[in-house]
Amino acid sequence: MSTVRTVIKGVGGYLPERVLTNDDLARVVDTSDHWITERTGIKERRIAAEGELTSSMGAAAARAALDTAGLAPEDIDLIVLATSTPDQTFPATAVTIQAELGMTHGAAFDVQAVCSGFVFALATADSYLKSGQFKRALVIGAEAFSRILDWQDRTTCVLFGDGAGAVVVEAQKLNGALTDRGILATCLRSDGRYRDKLYVDGGPSSTGTVGYLRMDGPEVFRHAVTKIAEVIDATLRQAGYKASDIDWFVPHQANRRILDGAARKLGLNKDRIIITVDKHANTSAASIPLALAAASADGRIKPGNLVLMEAMGGGFTWGAVLIRW
Ligand code: COA
Repeated sequence: MSTVRTVIKGVGGYLPERVLTNDDLARVVDTSDHWITERTGIKERRIAAEGELTSSMGAAAARAALDTAGLAPEDIDLIVLATSTPDQTFPATAVTIQAELGMTHGAAFDVQAVCSGFVFALATADSYLKSGQFKRALVIGAEAFSRILDWQDRTTCVLFGDGAGAVVVEAQKLNGALTDRGILATCLRSDGRYRDKLYVDGGPSSTGTVGYLRMDGPEVFRHAVTKIAEVIDATLRQAGYKASDIDWFVPHQANRRILDGAARKLGLNKDRIIITVDKHANTSAASIPLALAAASADGRIKPGNLVLMEAMGGGFTWGAVLIRW
């Protein structure tokens, strides 16, 4: 039975030049490399330069993804950008990226699901491509979280970093076999009762300010592993696969202990997990595409591999995507 699948054509990432280490942070707030490493696995993060925007980082990642796909902006007809740190309240940062790429056709919009943003954006693009409305999409995660951190608050400022990642996806008519390439299953969830556990204390309709990130870290941690495990289970069941079939597990990179916990629940070997949290920290919606870009560039993720992505973030939102790379 012929079916349309959303197939990965290219992937790319962009990281700002400036590296901020744990020791650098220990000179700003009362913390230590030992505490941050032990609790989170983070050693360093990248910080956007003055004047460097979410749109410029997103456009750089998009160009890198187009290069690996061997495609040009005119081949793309949809841009979905996941971000919680837009350049402006409006217009959508996706249209700035569209303009930077020299695209005057197609459509571009932002998706806001915080750290789950890339999973939500990829699932959105998948639905549009499968419906036949668009043929090729750029799905981007780009964040400048350094701009919404309270640099006096040691409980949050040590956890995040800046960057962008992108994939190019294409609708292809395939046989519908499990072994065909492309997205096999997506699962999205949210529960707004927990919206005050991880949020920004400002906004256009409330305070009229941008605000700073606030988080109840232990409470987020408490929910993370069970919610992630539940959505992974639902995604695998939907596709007819078992955890043991997964070649690469590409989790949102929030905290080493959370991703080890999720892998343990799945019974996955540690060498099947793509880890970038040590070098990038939590780049929110950018973390999964940055991890995909790293693992694809160094040859770990290869065409034909079964890749499982998952994320959880503010809202709470959480979700997973299973893809045959
Ligand atoms: N450096 C040193 N000490 C710190 C610190 C830091 N950067 N941040 C917090 N502490 C202190 C606390 O003040 C507390 O001190 P106290 O016992 O004297 O009160 C102590 O460390 C323990 O704090 P707690 O918050 O209970 O630590 P924790 O083991 O829960 O670790 C997190 C904190 C944030 C690392 C952990 O809760 C976490 O990873 N949560 C999930 C966060 C996350 O991933 N969010 C993004 C989701 S997308």
